[in-house]
Amino acid sequence: MKHLSTHTIIGAVALSSLVLAGCGGARSGGAGGGDGDGDGDGATAGQETFSLKFSHVTTESTPKGQAAVWFEEELEEASDGRIQVEVYPNSELYGDKDEMQAIQSNSVQMLAPASAKFTTVAPAIQVLDLPFLFDSPEDIPTVAAPDTAVGEAIFANEQLEENGMKVLALWDNGFKQIHSNNKTEQPSDIEGNSYRIQPSDVLKSQIEAWGGEATPLAFAEVYNALQQGLIDGGENTYSNIESQNMHTVQEHIAESNHGYIGYILVVNQDFFDSLPEDLQQILTETAEGASEFNREGATEVNEESKRVIEEAGGTEITVWTEEQRQAFKDLVVPSVYDEYRDVIGDEIIDELLANQE
Ligand code: SIN
Repeated sequence: MKHLSTHTIIGAVALSSLVLAGCGGARSGGAGGGDGDGDGDGATAGQETFSLKFSHVTTESTPKGQAAVWFEEELEEASDGRIQVEVYPNSELYGDKDEMQAIQSNSVQMLAPASAKFTTVAPAIQVLDLPFLFDSPEDIPTVAAPDTAVGEAIFANEQLEENGMKVLALWDNGFKQIHSNNKTEQPSDIEGNSYRIQPSDVLKSQIEAWGGEATPLAFAEVYNALQQGLIDGGENTYSNIESQNMHTVQEHIAESNHGYIGYILVVNQDFFDSLPEDLQQILTETAEGASEFNREGATEVNEESKRVIEEAGGTEITVWTEEQRQAFKDLVVPSVYDEYRDVIGDEIIDELLANQE
């Protein structure tokens, strides 16, 4: 895929500086409050300290989990202990259903949800959920990097700003594969089956275009739903499948590389504004550093998870041929892209389609 021009997406997703009223401030005590006692680890006496809760839904072994740990360690060191970070992985503190509310109320200061999780607050971010947006894993860092057109659509998203979130970075997981109990080699293999999707309208349209039934479920609920036979399959990256043990209750994985999971690293805007300027800069730079760390390792983490699944031996992995991939692609490109013109923007969709081979 060729890269989009920046102006196209910036023009379609205008800048705004609105901040959600009513968010708790960092100095107001509670979850986001600095304690003001100057006794933070390494902080100089008299300096205010701040605590930052970072909640996410994957395990620490995944691309997001590893980047979150890196961010915690680096930010505490770079801020000389003036920002104390607590990372809550694996839906321990907040899950898919309540994390958006939690960041807007400043109960948690940072999140890194997958693009699909923003559908209700910032539907245009579903651009990252469009099927077959990338041709190969090598395209992801360039097409979705912060200084590219797709990346800028995320960073300049006025809906996120209106909801009190400041975008700090875009992190990768990688390509989604289709997991199921039947072998998925052609669209007719999807028909009549129920697939868990993240709560995204674009993903619902994709599954339905292939003839399947789309069932939105929180990430933490997927293993149980598969294990109990409430759904037939789903779509996820190797690292998410393996770390949640989904492969242990699925007989097949089609290596389809048909979609992408990317994360929008967001901070509560009021919390960010409450930090002294030097800490704002340190936070911003550390988030960028975490992006580099994440990008360097995400592909390898997924490859390692694929190896773990293969070694476990209970799940057959079938790599789609170009012809098989094309048969699925023909059912969703351009139809699903066209369906979301109003949500994502005509100019972005036109340019994405023009760049599809
Ligand atoms: C995640 O990677 O954060 C979870 C994605 C999903 O809900 O499948």
